[in-house]
Amino acid sequence: MPAQSVTIAEVGPRDGFQMEKAFIPTDLKVRVIDLLAEAGLRSIEATSFVNPKVIPQMADAAEVMSRVARRRGTTYKVLVPNLKGAQRAIEAKADALELVIVASESYNRKNVGMSVDQSIAACGEIARVASARSVPLEVVIGTSFGCPLEGPVPEAQVERIARAAAAFGISRLSLADSIGSGNPAQVTRLVTRIKGALPAMPLSLHLHNTRGLGLANAVAGFHAGIDTFDAGLGGLGGCPIFPGATGNVATEDMVNLFEEMGISTGIDLNKVREASRLVQQFLDRPLPSYILRVGTTSELYAKAALAQVS
Ligand code: COA
Ligand code: ZN
Repeated sequence: MPAQSVTIAEVGPRDGFQMEKAFIPTDLKVRVIDLLAEAGLRSIEATSFVNPKVIPQMADAAEVMSRVARRRGTTYKVLVPNLKGAQRAIEAKADALELVIVASESYNRKNVGMSVDQSIAACGEIARVASARSVPLEVVIGTSFGCPLEGPVPEAQVERIARAAAAFGISRLSLADSIGSGNPAQVTRLVTRIKGALPAMPLSLHLHNTRGLGLANAVAGFHAGIDTFDAGLGGLGGCPIFPGATGNVATEDMVNLFEEMGISTGIDLNKVREASRLVQQFLDRPLPSYILRVGTTSELYAKAALAQVS
């Protein structure tokens, strides 16, 4: 039976912010992360410890980590591309590390300058360092549902990477639809396959909304047994390698999806909207989140009921 509650993991301060050209002031990043924690997001990908020459938006990673409120019960996770990033992240007292291994060779090379097998080897090294410091390591398998450079990605390749990462004792695996090319049938198939291969491994879905299928894919994942979904405030983001791709499923939209279905998220939607509006104001353009734009159905009905009473 599918779960009665789900966990939504916030990734916007990394996946969304990294795509923005204008430098988002550190003060605003910290305010947004603190608001998301107050909203009840228990896992927040706060930043990434990457080469600042490659992604200048993340140059303030250590400062962000030192200034966020570090709310008790909230995991402040960071992306690391290599061992150097892992060491910087541990020094900055990250609660958890996240390593992306992209399933397609050419995308992985473009992203981190390594072959998939080199990334798997790097994962082993990072896992050793993280485990020695008791810091959990999560692995995201990028382009699990398709690649802009190579097309369809064989499920066997995703499973191979998943098994290799699991052997290093990682704490969670995430299947990422990096460019929003997956569909619900594909999600059901791949989730079922990976759950069958690694039944004890906590598994998340990381969905982008390029073709409007993000929420449908989340529902398919939910029915296939997924209880943890990444989402990004406002639906910010895109893909550096596929210019047409859009951002993560918006956190507001993911919360709305499950809450309206009667599945609890434990998240205060108003606080998430407050965070998104702050970012929207700074970027000076409307963000793609549906709920930010039109509100929830429950809110609409409440207004309609009030109007009838008065
Ligand atoms: N943090 C900070 N600096 C780093 C670093 C890290 N994690 N990893 C490497 N560097 C620095 C090196 O010290 C070196 O500095 P120098 O020029 O002052 O000597 C420089 O970067 C080049 O090092 P090298 O090992 O040759 O790395 P690279 O140039 O091949 O870059 C990555 C590889 C992975 C570090 C870089 O491409 C990167 O940060 N990519 C970001 C990927 C990403 O976040 N993608 C989106 C999410 S999936
Ligand atoms: Zn992503």
